[in-house]
Amino acid sequence: MATINNPFNPSFGGRPQYFFGRKQELSIVSDALGNHNSPYRTLFFTGNRGCGKTALLERLSGLAGNAKWLTIDVHSANASQSIVRKLIGANSITTERTAESSLGFAGASFKAGSLRTSETVSYDALDLSDTLLETCSSLKRHEGIFITVDEIQKIPEADMENLCAAVQMSMRKGMPIALMLAGLPESKELVSSYRGCTFMRRVTDIRLDSLLVTETYEAFQHLMGLVSNVDVSEGAIDEMARYSQGYPYLMQLIGYYTLEEAPLPALPQVHKVGKNDVRFAKAYAYEQFRTNVLEPVVNELSSGQRAYLRSMAIALDDDGQARTGDVAQIMGKNQRQLSVVRDRLIKKRVIVPGDRGCVRYNLPRMHQYFTDPVAFPAFDAADTWKHV
Ligand SMILES: Nc1ncnc2c1ncn2[C@@H]1O[C@H](COP(=O)(O)OP(=O)(O)OP(=O)(O)O)[C@@H](O)[C@H]1O
Ligand SMILES: [Mg+2]
Repeated sequence: MATINNPFNPSFGGRPQYFFGRKQELSIVSDALGNHNSPYRTLFFTGNRGCGKTALLERLSGLAGNAKWLTIDVHSANASQSIVRKLIGANSITTERTAESSLGFAGASFKAGSLRTSETVSYDALDLSDTLLETCSSLKRHEGIFITVDEIQKIPEADMENLCAAVQMSMRKGMPIALMLAGLPESKELVSSYRGCTFMRRVTDIRLDSLLVTETYEAFQHLMGLVSNVDVSEGAIDEMARYSQGYPYLMQLIGYYTLEEAPLPALPQVHKVGKNDVRFAKAYAYEQFRTNVLEPVVNELSSGQRAYLRSMAIALDDDGQARTGDVAQIMGKNQRQLSVVRDRLIKKRVIVPGDRGCVRYNLPRMHQYFTDPVAFPAFDAADTWKHV
């Protein structure tokens, strides 16, 4: 193991040491903060596991904080209650009341002729609308309130409705408020289907996928350039970019293991990182990616959907596309019988339509996964389909 200060840190859900890419998303939000009439003060960010939703929300929150907005970041558990608590600045407020001793009752403590009682005031989700309005209208040091909510698909319907009602009311009153939501693909459709959240249908859904090609190369160049005993070759950068396909978590993994596994010398000597160092790191990166992204994604699918993906792996051409007719043939079905399965996979953004009559995987290393004997020791696509 090389001992270096590795700039890559592929901890899941953790804040990256160095944030890369997403320039367009950052600029949309940055503009919205300065423009009271922007339609992008409420946004949805959706994408598959590991595409960087949490990392982006963190970054946006930092951006808003720098622009002097009051930032509130909450997770799915008790979202609206957490916002109230954070707005108020404490979990609960304890007030002390003093009364005459003659009024004594259970639980009271006597002190020098007077009675002192402690009253704990807990705030619940129902207070959100009022609290938000009050805080918004009394802001002095802040430009507005910037709320981020992660893992939106896990928020119970009632909680989400409460949050929507409060934010809508504040916006209606012209208050400076921004709401950034993040969740898995289809979470926007889910939330928009709640009775109290229909305005979510009109909110822009920014679909997070891989970074742009230029952003990907720039990121590897920049982070590798931070390591003093490393000189990275163009070939190695290219190998990392192609392997990760610009998918942020896989970029973190391949960058991390390339540096961890390379024989790095002590300064002033320098190791020239080449393609071979990257190739060596791939097995480690893949294993983590399989466990933390591919398996959770695939495990949530029906057996018919899994069979479709597996059959795609068999039908895939050199450009990474599979003809839907070939997939059907492998599964012993006709294309019409498979259209529901295919459409569901497209909605879940596990696959995307390719050239006419073709589909592609939408997650990197999926081909490897579905031809991986460890993941699928003895898989018969046609057989699995029979059980659907
Ligand atoms: N833009 C980015 N720059 C640097 N690292 C990133 C970026 N986006 C994501 N990462 C890294 O990739 C990993 C996964 O990111 P993150 O946890 O944000 O994904 P997610 O979309 O929230 O996944 P999940 O749906 O499972 O919650 C983390 O290690 C994170 O630091
Ligand atoms: Mg996340």
